[in-house]
Amino acid sequence: MSCLTLRACAKINLTLDILRKREDGYHDLAMVMQSISLADTVTLTLGECGGICCTCDQPYVPTDHRNIAVKAALAFFEATGIENPGLKIDLVKRIPSAAGMAGGSSDAAAVLRGLRTLLAPNLENCVLERIGLCAGSDVPYCVRGTTALAEGRGELLTDLPALPHCWIVVCKPDFSLSTPELFSRVQIKKISYHPDNKGMVEALSQGDLKAVACRMFNVFEDILPQKYSEVFAIKNRLLELGALNALMSGSGPTVYGIFCDADAAQHACCVLSETYKNVFLAEPVTQI
Ligand code: C5P
Repeated sequence: MSCLTLRACAKINLTLDILRKREDGYHDLAMVMQSISLADTVTLTLGECGGICCTCDQPYVPTDHRNIAVKAALAFFEATGIENPGLKIDLVKRIPSAAGMAGGSSDAAAVLRGLRTLLAPNLENCVLERIGLCAGSDVPYCVRGTTALAEGRGELLTDLPALPHCWIVVCKPDFSLSTPELFSRVQIKKISYHPDNKGMVEALSQGDLKAVACRMFNVFEDILPQKYSEVFAIKNRLLELGALNALMSGSGPTVYGIFCDADAAQHACCVLSETYKNVFLAEPVTQI
Protein backbone atom coordinates (compact mmCIF):
# COMPACT_ATOMS: atom_id res chain seq x y z
CA MET A 1 0.00 0.00 0.00
CA SER A 2 1.38 3.44 -0.83
CA CYS A 3 0.12 6.75 0.38
CA LEU A 4 0.77 10.38 -0.53
CA THR A 5 -0.54 13.67 0.90
CA LEU A 6 -0.59 16.79 -1.26
CA ARG A 7 -1.44 20.44 -0.84
CA ALA A 8 -4.15 21.69 -3.23
CA CYS A 9 -3.87 25.49 -3.42
CA ALA A 10 -6.70 27.90 -4.16
CA LYS A 11 -6.27 30.40 -6.99
CA ILE A 12 -7.22 34.01 -7.43
CA ASN A 13 -7.70 35.84 -10.71
CA LEU A 14 -5.56 38.95 -11.00
CA THR A 15 -7.47 39.49 -14.26
CA LEU A 16 -10.33 37.75 -16.07
CA ASP A 17 -11.30 38.63 -19.62
CA ILE A 18 -13.91 36.96 -21.84
CA LEU A 19 -13.00 37.24 -25.52
CA ARG A 20 -15.61 35.28 -27.48
CA LYS A 21 -18.21 32.53 -27.32
CA ARG A 22 -17.00 29.33 -28.99
CA GLU A 23 -18.89 26.87 -31.10
CA ASP A 24 -18.51 24.20 -28.39
CA GLY A 25 -20.45 26.44 -25.96
CA TYR A 26 -17.40 27.44 -23.92
CA HIS A 27 -15.82 30.90 -23.99
CA ASP A 28 -12.30 31.92 -24.93
CA LEU A 29 -10.77 33.58 -21.91
CA ALA A 30 -7.58 35.46 -21.02
CA MET A 31 -6.83 35.38 -17.30
CA VAL A 32 -3.84 36.05 -15.11
CA MET A 33 -4.01 33.50 -12.32
CA GLN A 34 -2.16 33.22 -9.01
CA SER A 35 -1.95 30.31 -6.54
CA ILE A 36 -2.37 31.26 -2.89
CA SER A 37 -1.56 29.52 0.37
CA LEU A 38 -5.20 28.81 1.29
CA ALA A 39 -5.30 25.10 0.49
CA ASP A 40 -7.15 21.80 0.78
CA THR A 41 -5.31 18.60 1.70
CA VAL A 42 -5.61 15.62 -0.63
CA THR A 43 -4.42 12.19 0.47
CA LEU A 44 -4.15 9.35 -2.04
CA THR A 45 -3.88 5.74 -0.91
CA LEU A 46 -3.28 2.96 -3.41
CA GLY A 47 -4.37 -0.64 -2.87
CA GLU A 48 -6.63 -0.11 0.14
CA CYS A 49 -10.00 -0.28 -1.63
CA GLY A 50 -11.19 -1.50 -5.02
CA GLY A 51 -11.98 0.99 -7.83
CA ILE A 52 -12.02 4.63 -6.71
CA CYS A 53 -13.47 5.66 -3.37
CA CYS A 54 -13.52 9.21 -2.09
CA THR A 55 -14.16 10.76 1.32
CA CYS A 56 -14.49 14.39 2.35
CA ASP A 57 -14.62 16.05 5.77
CA GLN A 58 -17.41 18.37 4.51
CA PRO A 59 -20.78 16.62 4.12
CA TYR A 60 -22.02 19.01 1.39
CA VAL A 61 -19.27 17.91 -1.05
CA PRO A 62 -20.31 14.97 -3.26
CA THR A 63 -17.86 12.07 -3.11
CA ASP A 64 -19.13 10.11 -6.14
CA HIS A 65 -18.40 10.64 -9.85
CA ARG A 66 -19.77 14.23 -9.55
CA ASN A 67 -16.62 15.19 -7.64
CA ILE A 68 -14.06 16.38 -10.18
CA ALA A 69 -11.23 14.82 -8.17
CA VAL A 70 -12.85 11.45 -8.97
CA LYS A 71 -13.37 12.51 -12.60
CA ALA A 72 -9.68 13.43 -12.84
CA ALA A 73 -8.60 10.04 -11.46
CA LEU A 74 -10.83 8.22 -13.98
CA ALA A 75 -9.40 10.39 -16.79
CA PHE A 76 -5.84 9.62 -15.61
CA PHE A 77 -6.32 5.84 -15.77
CA GLU A 78 -8.14 6.07 -19.10
CA ALA A 79 -5.55 8.35 -20.76
CA THR A 80 -2.45 6.52 -19.50
CA GLY A 81 -3.79 2.97 -19.83
CA ILE A 82 -2.39 2.26 -16.33
CA GLU A 83 -4.51 -0.27 -14.45
CA ASN A 84 -6.12 1.21 -11.33
CA PRO A 85 -4.66 -0.67 -8.33
CA GLY A 86 -7.52 0.66 -6.15
CA LEU A 87 -7.51 4.34 -5.20
CA LYS A 88 -8.77 6.07 -2.08
CA ILE A 89 -9.00 9.88 -2.20
CA ASP A 90 -9.41 11.68 1.14
CA LEU A 91 -10.22 15.38 0.92
CA VAL A 92 -9.88 17.88 3.73
CA LYS A 93 -11.55 21.07 2.52
CA ARG A 94 -10.54 24.58 3.51
CA ILE A 95 -11.19 26.33 0.19
CA PRO A 96 -14.87 27.32 0.04
CA SER A 97 -16.80 25.52 -2.74
CA ALA A 98 -18.44 27.27 -5.72
CA ALA A 99 -16.53 30.38 -4.75
CA GLY A 100 -14.39 31.31 -7.79
CA MET A 101 -11.21 29.96 -6.23
CA ALA A 102 -10.93 26.63 -8.11
CA GLY A 103 -11.34 24.58 -4.93
CA GLY A 104 -12.61 21.47 -6.76
CA SER A 105 -10.24 21.97 -9.71
CA SER A 106 -7.31 22.23 -7.35
CA ASP A 107 -8.24 18.94 -5.64
CA ALA A 108 -8.51 17.33 -9.10
CA ALA A 109 -5.09 18.68 -10.07
CA ALA A 110 -3.58 17.37 -6.82
CA VAL A 111 -5.00 13.92 -7.61
CA LEU A 112 -3.32 14.04 -11.04
CA ARG A 113 0.03 15.20 -9.64
CA GLY A 114 -0.18 12.55 -6.93
CA LEU A 115 -1.04 9.73 -9.32
CA ARG A 116 1.89 10.78 -11.51
CA THR A 117 4.26 10.62 -8.52
CA LEU A 118 2.94 7.22 -7.44
CA LEU A 119 2.43 5.53 -10.81
CA ALA A 120 3.96 7.41 -13.76
CA PRO A 121 6.87 9.64 -12.66
CA ASN A 122 7.95 10.29 -16.26
CA LEU A 123 4.62 11.72 -17.39
CA GLU A 124 5.20 15.24 -18.68
CA ASN A 125 3.36 18.26 -17.33
CA CYS A 126 1.74 19.02 -20.70
CA VAL A 127 0.23 15.50 -20.76
CA LEU A 128 -1.04 15.85 -17.19
CA GLU A 129 -2.54 19.26 -18.03
CA ARG A 130 -4.28 17.76 -21.09
CA ILE A 131 -5.76 14.99 -18.92
CA GLY A 132 -6.85 17.67 -16.46
CA LEU A 133 -8.92 19.44 -19.11
CA CYS A 134 -11.20 16.35 -19.26
CA ALA A 135 -12.17 17.10 -15.64
CA GLY A 136 -12.66 20.89 -15.94
CA SER A 137 -11.39 24.08 -17.60
CA ASP A 138 -9.41 25.31 -14.55
CA VAL A 139 -7.70 21.96 -13.85
CA PRO A 140 -4.76 22.41 -16.29
CA TYR A 141 -3.84 25.71 -14.59
CA CYS A 142 -4.14 24.06 -11.16
CA VAL A 143 -1.78 21.26 -12.28
CA ARG A 144 0.84 23.91 -13.07
CA GLY A 145 -0.04 26.53 -10.45
CA THR A 146 1.92 29.64 -9.34
CA THR A 147 1.60 32.70 -11.67
CA ALA A 148 0.35 32.08 -15.21
CA LEU A 149 -1.65 33.49 -18.10
CA ALA A 150 -4.47 31.09 -19.00
CA GLU A 151 -6.08 31.40 -22.43
CA GLY A 152 -8.47 29.39 -24.60
CA ARG A 153 -10.87 27.53 -22.30
CA GLY A 154 -8.20 27.99 -19.64
CA GLU A 155 -5.82 25.27 -20.85
CA LEU A 156 -3.36 27.37 -22.92
CA LEU A 157 -0.87 28.32 -20.25
CA THR A 158 2.08 30.71 -20.20
CA ASP A 159 4.26 30.93 -17.09
CA LEU A 160 4.61 34.46 -15.74
CA PRO A 161 7.04 36.10 -13.30
CA ALA A 162 5.96 35.58 -9.69
CA LEU A 163 3.61 38.03 -8.00
CA PRO A 164 5.77 40.05 -5.56
CA HIS A 165 5.20 39.02 -1.95
CA CYS A 166 2.06 40.50 -0.43
CA TRP A 167 -0.75 39.57 1.93
CA ILE A 168 -4.03 38.45 0.43
CA VAL A 169 -7.24 38.78 2.43
CA VAL A 170 -9.91 36.47 1.05
CA CYS A 171 -13.59 36.91 1.93
CA LYS A 172 -16.47 34.80 0.61
CA PRO A 173 -19.96 36.18 1.21
CA ASP A 174 -22.55 33.69 2.44
CA PHE A 175 -24.02 32.86 -0.97
CA SER A 176 -22.73 30.95 -3.98
CA LEU A 177 -22.78 31.84 -7.68
CA SER A 178 -23.29 29.36 -10.52
CA THR A 179 -20.47 29.58 -13.08
CA PRO A 180 -22.61 28.37 -16.05
CA GLU A 181 -25.36 30.82 -15.05
CA LEU A 182 -22.95 33.74 -14.96
CA PHE A 183 -21.42 32.74 -18.33
CA SER A 184 -24.96 32.58 -19.79
CA ARG A 185 -25.40 36.30 -18.95
CA VAL A 186 -22.34 37.26 -21.02
CA GLN A 187 -22.96 39.40 -24.12
CA ILE A 188 -19.53 39.92 -25.57
CA LYS A 189 -20.45 43.11 -27.46
CA LYS A 190 -21.74 44.67 -24.26
CA ILE A 191 -18.46 44.20 -22.40
CA SER A 192 -17.30 47.82 -22.38
CA TYR A 193 -14.03 47.46 -20.50
CA HIS A 194 -11.41 44.70 -20.74
CA PRO A 195 -8.44 44.10 -18.43
CA ASP A 196 -5.02 45.25 -19.58
CA ASN A 197 -3.38 41.81 -19.58
CA LYS A 198 -0.30 43.08 -21.40
CA GLY A 199 0.16 45.79 -18.75
CA MET A 200 -0.38 43.18 -16.03
CA VAL A 201 2.36 40.96 -17.48
CA GLU A 202 4.70 43.99 -17.65
CA ALA A 203 3.90 44.89 -14.03
CA LEU A 204 4.71 41.32 -12.96
CA SER A 205 7.94 41.38 -15.00
CA GLN A 206 8.97 44.56 -13.17
CA GLY A 207 8.01 43.10 -9.78
CA ASP A 208 5.85 46.19 -9.23
CA LEU A 209 3.07 45.27 -6.79
CA LYS A 210 1.33 48.67 -7.03
CA ALA A 211 1.22 48.44 -10.84
CA VAL A 212 -0.17 44.89 -10.52
CA ALA A 213 -2.85 46.12 -8.11
CA CYS A 214 -3.84 48.95 -10.50
CA ARG A 215 -4.46 46.44 -13.29
CA MET A 216 -6.59 43.93 -11.38
CA PHE A 217 -9.85 43.58 -13.33
CA ASN A 218 -12.56 40.94 -13.76
CA VAL A 219 -15.21 41.43 -16.47
CA PHE A 220 -17.67 39.28 -14.49
CA GLU A 221 -18.02 42.11 -11.97
CA ASP A 222 -19.77 44.21 -14.64
CA ILE A 223 -22.45 41.57 -15.30
CA LEU A 224 -23.19 40.57 -11.71
CA PRO A 225 -26.92 40.71 -11.00
CA GLN A 226 -27.91 43.51 -8.63
CA LYS A 227 -28.89 41.02 -5.91
CA TYR A 228 -25.19 40.19 -5.43
CA SER A 229 -24.15 43.77 -4.68
CA GLU A 230 -22.61 42.55 -1.41
CA VAL A 231 -19.54 41.70 -3.52
CA PHE A 232 -18.98 45.44 -4.03
CA ALA A 233 -19.64 46.17 -0.36
CA ILE A 234 -16.80 43.75 0.54
CA LYS A 235 -14.53 45.31 -2.09
CA ASN A 236 -15.14 48.77 -0.64
CA ARG A 237 -14.56 47.50 2.89
CA LEU A 238 -11.21 45.98 1.88
CA LEU A 239 -10.18 49.26 0.23
CA GLU A 240 -11.18 51.25 3.32
CA LEU A 241 -9.12 48.80 5.41
CA GLY A 242 -5.99 49.56 3.39
CA ALA A 243 -5.96 47.12 0.46
CA LEU A 244 -3.95 48.30 -2.57
CA ASN A 245 -6.88 46.96 -4.60
CA ALA A 246 -9.67 44.38 -4.27
CA LEU A 247 -11.38 42.17 -6.84
CA MET A 248 -13.89 39.35 -7.23
CA SER A 249 -12.06 36.13 -8.13
CA GLY A 250 -13.22 34.02 -11.11
CA SER A 251 -16.99 33.72 -11.34
CA GLY A 252 -17.25 34.76 -7.70
CA PRO A 253 -18.55 35.48 -5.25
CA THR A 254 -15.23 35.48 -3.32
CA VAL A 255 -13.50 38.84 -3.09
CA TYR A 256 -9.84 39.30 -2.23
CA GLY A 257 -7.76 42.30 -1.32
CA ILE A 258 -4.01 42.73 -1.82
CA PHE A 259 -2.07 44.28 1.07
CA CYS A 260 1.62 45.12 1.41
CA ASP A 261 1.29 45.64 5.15
CA ALA A 262 0.92 42.50 7.30
CA ASP A 263 -0.74 44.31 10.24
CA ALA A 264 -3.32 46.00 7.99
CA ALA A 265 -4.11 42.63 6.37
CA GLN A 266 -4.49 40.96 9.76
CA HIS A 267 -6.74 43.79 10.95
CA ALA A 268 -8.89 43.52 7.78
CA CYS A 269 -9.30 39.79 8.45
CA CYS A 270 -10.46 40.48 12.02
CA VAL A 271 -12.93 43.14 10.91
CA LEU A 272 -14.44 41.04 8.09
CA SER A 273 -14.63 37.95 10.34
CA GLU A 274 -17.15 39.84 12.50
CA THR A 275 -19.59 39.63 9.56
CA TYR A 276 -18.44 36.68 7.40
CA LYS A 277 -17.69 33.03 8.19
CA ASN A 278 -15.23 32.52 5.34
CA VAL A 279 -12.37 34.97 5.78
CA PHE A 280 -8.75 33.91 5.25
CA LEU A 281 -5.31 35.46 5.30
CA ALA A 282 -3.09 34.03 2.56
CA GLU A 283 0.16 34.65 0.68
CA PRO A 284 1.11 34.02 -2.95
CA VAL A 285 2.48 30.53 -3.62
CA THR A 286 5.59 30.43 -5.80
CA GLN A 287 6.10 26.66 -5.91
CA ILE A 288 3.47 23.95 -6.31
O1 C5P B 1 -15.02 23.37 -17.60
P1 C5P B 1 -15.91 23.60 -16.41
O2 C5P B 1 -16.77 22.38 -16.13
O3 C5P B 1 -15.22 24.09 -15.20
O4 C5P B 1 -16.90 24.76 -16.85
C1 C5P B 1 -18.10 25.03 -16.13
C2 C5P B 1 -18.99 25.88 -17.00
O5 C5P B 1 -18.42 27.19 -17.15
C3 C5P B 1 -19.16 25.38 -18.43
O6 C5P B 1 -20.22 24.49 -18.52
C4 C5P B 1 -19.44 26.66 -19.19
O7 C5P B 1 -20.79 27.03 -19.00
C5 C5P B 1 -18.61 27.68 -18.46
N1 C5P B 1 -17.29 27.93 -19.08
C6 C5P B 1 -17.22 28.62 -20.29
N2 C5P B 1 -16.00 28.86 -20.85
C7 C5P B 1 -14.87 28.47 -20.23
C8 C5P B 1 -14.92 27.79 -19.00
C9 C5P B 1 -16.16 27.54 -18.45
O8 C5P B 1 -18.25 29.00 -20.86
N3 C5P B 1 -13.69 28.74 -20.80
